[in-house]
Formats: sequence, C-alpha cells, structure tokens
Amino acid sequence: MCGIIGYTGPLSATPIVLDGLQKLEYRGYDSAGMAYMNGNGKLSLRKTVGKVKDLRAICDDDEATCGIGHTRWATHGGVSNTNAHPHKVGNIALIHNGIIENYHELVNEYDLAGDLASETDSEVVAALINKLYDGNPNTTIRKVVSLLNGSFAFCILFGDHPGIIYCVRNVSPMVATHCKDGSFIASDLTAFIDFTKRYFIIPEYTIVTVREDGIMMEDLDGKTVEPEYLEVNWDISDAQKDGYPYFMLKEIHEQPDAITRTITPRIVDGLPDFTEDGVPEDFFENVSDITVVACGTAMYAGMVGRTLLQKYLRIPVTVAIASEFRYEEPVLSENSVVIVVSQSGETIDTLEALRLAKKYTKKTLSLVNVKGSSIARESDYVMYTHAGPEIAVASTKAYTVQTSMFYLLTAKLALVQKKKTEEEVRRFIGNLEKVPDLIFDMLGSEEDIERLTKRMLNAKNAFFIGRNLDYTLSMEGALKLKEISYIHAEAYAAGELKHGTIALISEGMPVIAIASQTHVYSKMISNIREVKARGAYVILLSKDEKITDDALCDEHVKLPNIADDFTMFASIVILQMIAYYTAVGKGLNPDQPRNLAKSVTVE
Ligand code: F6R
Repeated sequence: MCGIIGYTGPLSATPIVLDGLQKLEYRGYDSAGMAYMNGNGKLSLRKTVGKVKDLRAICDDDEATCGIGHTRWATHGGVSNTNAHPHKVGNIALIHNGIIENYHELVNEYDLAGDLASETDSEVVAALINKLYDGNPNTTIRKVVSLLNGSFAFCILFGDHPGIIYCVRNVSPMVATHCKDGSFIASDLTAFIDFTKRYFIIPEYTIVTVREDGIMMEDLDGKTVEPEYLEVNWDISDAQKDGYPYFMLKEIHEQPDAITRTITPRIVDGLPDFTEDGVPEDFFENVSDITVVACGTAMYAGMVGRTLLQKYLRIPVTVAIASEFRYEEPVLSENSVVIVVSQSGETIDTLEALRLAKKYTKKTLSLVNVKGSSIARESDYVMYTHAGPEIAVASTKAYTVQTSMFYLLTAKLALVQKKKTEEEVRRFIGNLEKVPDLIFDMLGSEEDIERLTKRMLNAKNAFFIGRNLDYTLSMEGALKLKEISYIHAEAYAAGELKHGTIALISEGMPVIAIASQTHVYSKMISNIREVKARGAYVILLSKDEKITDDALCDEHVKLPNIADDFTMFASIVILQMIAYYTAVGKGLNPDQPRNLAKSVTVE
C-alpha cells in the first residue's frame, strides 16, 4: 500500500527517487509524486495521476540533492493530482503510507479545513505539523504523532532544514540505510538495493533524522536509538525481469529454485530439522490443535497445510482469515499452535491477528519471506521462506514456498508425535525433494497452456473445481485468475456444485477441473461430466495418460505420476500459467492489476 522513498546525499536525488519509485511501484500505481530541495531550502513539488513513467516525464531534468517520492494506492479520496502525494502545507512537504483514522477530528479540533486542498487523511497531518511547528522538527513531530490514531510511515521535508528528511512510522513498514552514496529511507529495500545490501528496520515511534552524512534516531523520550543493520542474501538481479516480459512469469519460473532454497537447509539426513530456525523440539510436542491465520494467497497456502496436517496428525486444524479472526473470540489454549503466514510480513490484519493469538499461547510461529519484518519479529518463532523478492502483485513463488513449509512441518509434527514412523517420514520427505524437478517439468507445458487459454479470453465467469487437496488449490487458482484477468472466477468443492451453483454453467463457460486425488477420482469424474453435459468448456488436470472422451473434457493436462499428496505442486503451476496467459492474452499487465497493491498495510 503506497511506496515511499527518500534520499539525501552527494548524488543527484531526482533519478534516485524516480528509480526507487519504479521498483516500489508494485505497492501502488494510481498516481506518483516527489518533493525535492536544493541547498537554498526551496521546496518544489511534482505530482501526477498515472505511473512513475508519467512522473519521470515531468521531472527528469530537475536538479536536487535531497528528495522524497511516493507512489499511491488510493484509500481516502479518489485518484487525482490533488490527492497525489507529496502534500505541501506552508513550508512543509509530506508523504504518507498508511491510514490516519482520526483525521476528521483533527481537522475540527485544530481548525485545519482552510489549509486543505485534497480529500486525503495524509494532508491533514501535513497541515497539523505546519500549524504546530515550533522551529524544531523533532519536537513538533513528537507532538503530532501523539495526536494520531492509525498506521503511518511519513517522510517529511521542512523548508527551513535543507538537505534533511524526517521520518516516523507506526505499523507501516520503513527501512533505511547509510552508505558511501548517501542516506536512503524507503518502504522496502528493493528501492535502494542498487546501492547497498545493508539496511535496518526503523523501529516504531522513533523519530529519524536522515542527513547526507548519517542517520540519527531517537525515541519519543528523546533517547538515542541505535540502528540494527541487517544484510539481504539476494541482489539487484533478483529484483529485475531478467529477460522475461513480466515479473509474474519470471517468478513462476523461479519456483523450483525457491523451493530448493527453502527446504534443503531444513532437511538433515532425510528428516525435517528446524534447529537452524531456533525452534526447540518441545514446540512440536503436546500440540492440542493448530490454527493457521493469514490473508489471500497465504491463507490458501494454509488450506493446503490444513489438509495435510489434519490427515497426518489427526488433531483439529483450522484456517482463519486474519481480518475475521481478529474480531472473533478465538478458541485457543496454551497448547494451541498458531501458524501465521505472510510473504511480506507486514500485512496489518495478519500482524494484528498474531498479536491477538499471543494473548492465548506462547506457540506462535510465522512463515515469512521478508527478513526482519514486523510479523517475523513479533512471533515467538519464525521460519523464513526463501522465495527472494516477489515483485508481481499476484503471488506465485511465495505460495509454493509457503506450502512446501507446511509439508516440512507436517512431517516434523508427525514424527515427533509418533503418528508416522521414521521410514514413512523419510519417504514423504523424499517425495518433497522431488518437487523442484517436478515443477521444472511442468513449466515445459507453457505453450500448451497459452493455447488452451485462447478460449477463455472472452469469458465473463469461470469455475475451478476439485475435491480434497485439489479443492484447496482451486481457491488459489480462482484467485489468480480473478486478480489479473478480471474474469469472475469461483472455486467449488466439486461435490457441492449440484446444490445450487451448477445453475450458473452456460455454454462455453470455462471450468478448470483438477482430479489428482485417487480416493475421490471417480466421484470427481462424475462431477466433471455433469458440467460438461451442460456446455462447459472443461480443462481437466489429471494423472491419466490421455483422455479421448469428448464427453468428459475439451482439454487435458497430464499431471505427473507421483503420490497424491504432492501433485498439488504440478497443478498449481498450471493454474498460475492459465491465469497469466489469460491476462496477457487479454492485453493486460499481470504485474500490476487494477485496484490492487502488493503489501496490504491498511485494514
Ligand atoms: C494474491 C496475493 C494476496 C496476498 C495477501 C497476503 O496473489 O498476493 O492475496 O497473498 O495480500 O499478503 P502477505 O502474504 O504479504 O501477508
């Protein structure tokens, strides 16, 4: 949700801010803007509706050594130049990521209405800082922050303090670094990884003063806070398209490597091992029940996890939508394990759900991709997935690494709780180790998938059907298609169709049917015949060598002959490619679907 970057240093700020914004564009892309300052303290603003390339066109020649930039995902107020950030009130320019919940009250209490041009909550903060400014940015920010309710990451320029960027955050992420090329601050480090791999996370409610020669931090009591530097284990080439037309296709192709990186260090002598993650053995003992909490794709990874965990452990496993879990009264005890799943580690609902879960149990575990993110830091234990940076808004490789972690966790819990013998667990892990090659082979069917999506390009609706593990996948397949191709897609447990939904099947409507689970295969085939008989365009994914029966399906995608538990990795790659080629076939940019943003830090 909104990307922010700030730079001050010896180099020209304009290209650094613009290039940084381009890398952050996945966080929001309805409008963009920057504010910059020269040595004379004159604050200049450029902003426009549209993408970073549109902003570049209006400010590429601007000279500055200090600047802040913003790419917006609208929350308060429509998409317009006036609502785009930065907001300048008096001699103060501000950019914001987050939501200020009490902005109405602040306008009334501090009589700010006359200072406002936009409909945004963010401009209210700029106006408030301007109103309360006492010549000292730190004391003013401290005062203003104490008046705010909500989430925020702010970068602020004060015209009378040239060359300095002031920042503060609550919940919304912000990282910073100082290196030989100057000082940087951003929503995530992809914005400045061209310059350094070292960075630190800005602690909440810490006032940050970013100067050319260094970064100072103090807490709200004025005490100095030292940065804790981290280093990423990927570099700029991982965040580039590398010859692929879109990040999404690149990330689909990266899945074999991402899974290998994630599982290999956790398999020792053929068995799951979480010693390196610092998770003690007793974490896996005495588990009464498991709750998985996440949003969107991460939650669907949890659905796969649930199916496996429940099958092998025979204990209750529930999957909760984080935004619902927060407002229910969870049934948890001290022996409950809560697994929180998040690529970004910053999704606000997931973070708040974790905070709630911690009131009930000391066994919270997060599966997170971004090192040092809020969810990773706040959970009792964290296991990092190693997908590398995921830039496309639609998640692909993050999902498969998350699911691969659930396979490892299932194996570990089954072993510790003696639900499976060591030999059975070794066999299970052996199959998991084959997954990267299996996905690699499935990627070879790309041209076929592109061809069979041709008949989907004009579809208004589509169904994804499956049973058991395949049903959980259908949900993720439907989400992928919806979010990037804008075709209305729904997932159904195949047996449930005839209880109402089958009424919606019409001539030519795409139905993607997954039939990989042997114990429900024949039932699944009957369900597929039912939709085919009503005119659906059926794409069937199954392990059958060949299907020649036209009354069953129009297209058949052959899945590999491996144990049923593992076919999901092959199927999901096909579903991801179906979504990708449908979107591209419709002339859409799959990396930046309308209305979406990658990191959802608003509630
Ligand atoms: C869909 C997608 C989203 C995210 C969800 C959670 O393709 O990417 O549904 O999965 O917003 O995000 P994280 O995993 O960062 O918590």
